[in-house]
Amino acid sequence: MKHLIDPTDLTREETDQIIDLALEIIADRPAWQEKMAHRKLSTLFYEPSTRTRLSFTAAMMELGGNVLGFADAANSSVSKGETVQDTVRVVSSFVDIIAMRHYIEGAQLYASEVSPVPIINAGDGSHSHPTQTLTDLLTIRRELGHIDGITIGFCGDLRFGRTVHSLIKALARYKDVKVVLIAPEALKLPDYIRRDVCDKMKIDYREVETMEEVMPELDILYMTRVQKERFLDEDEFDRVKDSFRLDCEKLSQAKSRMAVLHPLPRVNEILPEVDADPRAAYFRQVENGKFVRMALIVKLLEWKDDPAHGMPQDDFPIYNPHAKCTNPKCICASEAAPHKFRRSTDGELRCWYCDAKVR
Ligand code: NCD
Repeated sequence: MKHLIDPTDLTREETDQIIDLALEIIADRPAWQEKMAHRKLSTLFYEPSTRTRLSFTAAMMELGGNVLGFADAANSSVSKGETVQDTVRVVSSFVDIIAMRHYIEGAQLYASEVSPVPIINAGDGSHSHPTQTLTDLLTIRRELGHIDGITIGFCGDLRFGRTVHSLIKALARYKDVKVVLIAPEALKLPDYIRRDVCDKMKIDYREVETMEEVMPELDILYMTRVQKERFLDEDEFDRVKDSFRLDCEKLSQAKSRMAVLHPLPRVNEILPEVDADPRAAYFRQVENGKFVRMALIVKLLEWKDDPAHGMPQDDFPIYNPHAKCTNPKCICASEAAPHKFRRSTDGELRCWYCDAKVR
C-alpha cells in the first residue's frame, strides 16, 4: 500500500500523474464532485495549521466525501497518553484515508507501519511536508509551464523549513534544475539534505547570502518564514528573524516571468506591497494546494490495492539494538519505536524515522 510520508515515496512518474490529475480536475471541477461519495478522510492534527487542514477538508468535500478528526490533540485521547500507532489503529477502522500533522519527527512513518489505510504526512516537525511539495510542483507547472530546467532560489529558514527539505528532494528527480540556497550561516540547509540529496543526486546548487545577487537569474523565488517554534534558543531566533525582506525594489531586478512562491503563513519576509505584482504567486499556490490534495486522495485510494504502487523498495532498515537516535524531537524519544536506521551515502548511521545522525 502506498502512503505519502516523504516526497520520494512517490516515483517521478507517480508525482507527475498526481499533478496531471490536478490539472484535469481544475479543467472540469463538476466531473469530480461525486468521486469520493460515501468515503471518509480523517484529519489528525497535533500541531497548529490553517491552510493545510482546511485544504484537506475542502479537497475531500469538493470530491463529495466526508471529513472527521481533530485540530487540537489536547481534546483527544492523546491527552490520556495514547500512542500515535494506537490512535491510527482506532481511527483507521472508521475512515478510508488519514492526513496527519505532528510536531514529532517521524510520527507518521511510525504510525504508517500499523495502518491498514493510506497515511498522508501533512508535516512532521522540521522534517518533511510532502503535500506542500505537490502544491509547489503544481504551482511551478502552472506558472512557468514546466519544471525541468528551472533555476530556483530558496530564501529564508532552510534549516528548519520542512517545505524546503521536501521540495529539494522532489526537484532532484527533474532534469537540469539549478538550486540557489539563500540563507545566513545559522539558517543553512541541514547536512543530511545537502549530502544525501544534493550531493548524491548531483543537484547543481550553490549557496549565497543575499537575494539581490541572484535575483536576475531566478525563475522561481521560494520565500520562507523563520520557523520561530523550532528554535530552542530565543536569542538565536532574534538574531536571524529579520534576515530577509522582499520588496518591490528588489523584485524589479527579477525576470518578468519569475514567480514568487511561499508556503505561507508569511510574517515579515514579503512586504504587502509585493502582493499586487503579477509575479506574486503565493495566494494562487494556496488554491493549487486544494486541487493537488484532491488528486492525491483519488490516486492513493486508486493505488491502495495495486501491488505496482507500493512503497519504494530500494532502502532497507538496519536494526541495531545498541544504537540510539538522540534527536529529542524524534518519535524514538517519545514512543517505543524500534531501533531502525539507514546508512547514508557518506557511511553514517541515520535514524530511520527522522534522518538525524546517530552518534
Ligand atoms: C508551512 C508548514 O507548516 O511547514 N505551512 C504550510 O503548511 N503551508 C510553512 C510554515 O509554517 O512556515
